[in-house]
Amino acid sequence: MTENSGRKRALVTGAAGGLGREIAMQLASKGCNIGLVDIDSRGTTETARLCRGLGADIEEIVGDFTAEGAPESAVNRLRVKWGGLDILVNNAGYGVIEPFLDMSYKSWQRTLSLNTATLALACAAAGRVMKEQSSGRIINITSPASRMALPDYAAYAASKAGVDSITRAAAVALAPFGVLVNSLSPGMMDTEMQRSTEADLARVNGRDDLQAFLDERTRRVPLGRRAEISEVAEAVAWLCLDAPAYMTAERLNMSGGMDKD
Ligand SMILES: NC(=O)c1ccc[n+]([C@@H]2O[C@H](COP(=O)([O-])OP(=O)(O)OC[C@H]3O[C@@H](n4cnc5c(N)ncnc54)[C@H](O)[C@@H]3O)[C@@H](O)[C@H]2O)c1
Repeated sequence: MTENSGRKRALVTGAAGGLGREIAMQLASKGCNIGLVDIDSRGTTETARLCRGLGADIEEIVGDFTAEGAPESAVNRLRVKWGGLDILVNNAGYGVIEPFLDMSYKSWQRTLSLNTATLALACAAAGRVMKEQSSGRIINITSPASRMALPDYAAYAASKAGVDSITRAAAVALAPFGVLVNSLSPGMMDTEMQRSTEADLARVNGRDDLQAFLDERTRRVPLGRRAEISEVAEAVAWLCLDAPAYMTAERLNMSGGMDKD
């Protein structure tokens, strides 16, 4: 399928499950073709099957997105296949719970490499193609954590503060070419990442009753519940396809009131 098909061409990272799969499916159902990036080949193949069932043409791009040249190569594959790129969703993310005084070199490296450095390089790679087209939209997935004091999750929180900074820089760099760059901050969603993170958080805080711990955290959300993955993906799809053309450098909070500005 080429650019003449009229379908938008999107790249979604971290698409093997969780929020990334849901974003890919919503974009597929709204008429996009999608490049699916993930290190998990089984999950990616399943997302591809689901999206093809919704009528999308799919390119599976399996591998470690933090490898040198990976973002540039993924963008180039889609440019060659479909003649351009209209949408990039930087959704892949990694985080590990570690008490502040026990933090390790390895987890800082892994977290900053994926969540921050690779996200920035993907913005630039997609930005070069979008600049040529004089159009395109980039959405970076940030987190309420980027503005919180989280001593057991410091690398993750810092990496997401980096996402906020990169979003501002990319928005200004690409504004002259009509390319929009925004971010979205999801609230707590029951994905694989969130489940294991909260189990580890309960453990390092000596909380044996995991369900009581989770309920306590849920009660802290002003709306009093966790986010459905689908409603967060809906907001991402809106940023990708329908948000007004004057909206850039914005952070859209989908966190049930946890983020307040
Ligand atoms: N789940 C939540 O409550 C929550 C809250 C706020 C923000 N977020 C953010 O939302 C995004 C999606 O999170 P999720 O909860 O769906 O997590 P998830 O763990 O279910 O999905 C992340 C995906 O990224 C992939 N990935 C990890 N390392 C990779 C690498 N090196 N190369 C390629 N792919 C890689 C994983 O295989 C996985 O499929 C992340 O950026 C996360 O930080 C999640």
